[in-house]
Amino acid sequence: MSDILIKDVQKVFKTPGGDVTALKDINLTVKQGEFVCLLGPSGCGKSTLLNAVAGFQPPSAGEIVIEGKKILTPGPDRGMVFQEYALFPWMTVAQNIAFGLQIQKKEKAEIDLTVNQLLDLLHLKDFRDRFPKDLSGGMRQRVAIARVLALDSPIMLMDEPFGALDALTRRNLQDELLRIWEKLNKTILFVTHSIEESIYLADRIVVMTYRPGTIKRDQYVTMPRPRDPSSHEFNELKRELGRLVMEEQQRHAADELKLAAVD
Ligand SMILES: Nc1ncnc2c1ncn2[C@@H]1O[C@H](COP(=O)(O)OP(=O)(O)O)[C@@H](O)[C@H]1O
Ligand SMILES: [Mg+2]
Repeated sequence: MSDILIKDVQKVFKTPGGDVTALKDINLTVKQGEFVCLLGPSGCGKSTLLNAVAGFQPPSAGEIVIEGKKILTPGPDRGMVFQEYALFPWMTVAQNIAFGLQIQKKEKAEIDLTVNQLLDLLHLKDFRDRFPKDLSGGMRQRVAIARVLALDSPIMLMDEPFGALDALTRRNLQDELLRIWEKLNKTILFVTHSIEESIYLADRIVVMTYRPGTIKRDQYVTMPRPRDPSSHEFNELKRELGRLVMEEQQRHAADELKLAAVD
């Protein structure tokens, strides 16, 4: 079972201006197959927590455990999709998707099979020989997702992956992601500051506080999918979570004013 166990996690950054406590007392278990969103305004430690789970930046205290192993480094069980399209510009779509498999020294026939399946799954077939610069933002993010799926990690970590996309493309990719998640039975930890996006996607929304980042609300969402953002239930939850996020946003804004006064 690749549950993600996050136990008493703290993260302190040492800066010239003093210590910054980015995460404090984070306790969270993400179940295998669950779709969990980390929600909160900028600066509440969402990326810090995701990076700790990814193994890029281990916590200062506490631990993250997956399948009985403490996470201290990146590993093949966890794939990361960033907001920026982290594609190699000199490689075609198909080559970008194949790259990780080549590094793993997989057989050519196996690589070709996987790449073709993913081109199919993400509706990228007609784009296989294009270069990233010739693709729209939405298409590039499809390639970024395909590239992570190629490695077949049971866990997908996503840091505001659709943040730079226009509203319609974003909805389209949200639907694609839900389809893939259901089909491939992945565990997804997804960072967003969009309340609507979190309600549209998640089984469970973890609202974080602004500095130090703690868990303010652990909210299960039981509405059946596809969810209707114009429904009463959707909007009730949106209002409730909006209130929680706004309180943190105000603390963030007050902090920035204080900093500006010092400068
Ligand atoms: N490398 C770092 N050095 C110092 N402070 C950092 C570093 N990374 C993040 N922080 C601080 O930690 C807090 C949380 O940051 P981050 O995880 O990026 O928040 P979010 O992703 O929710 O916007 C912020 O106050 C940020 O300034
Ligand atoms: Mg972030």
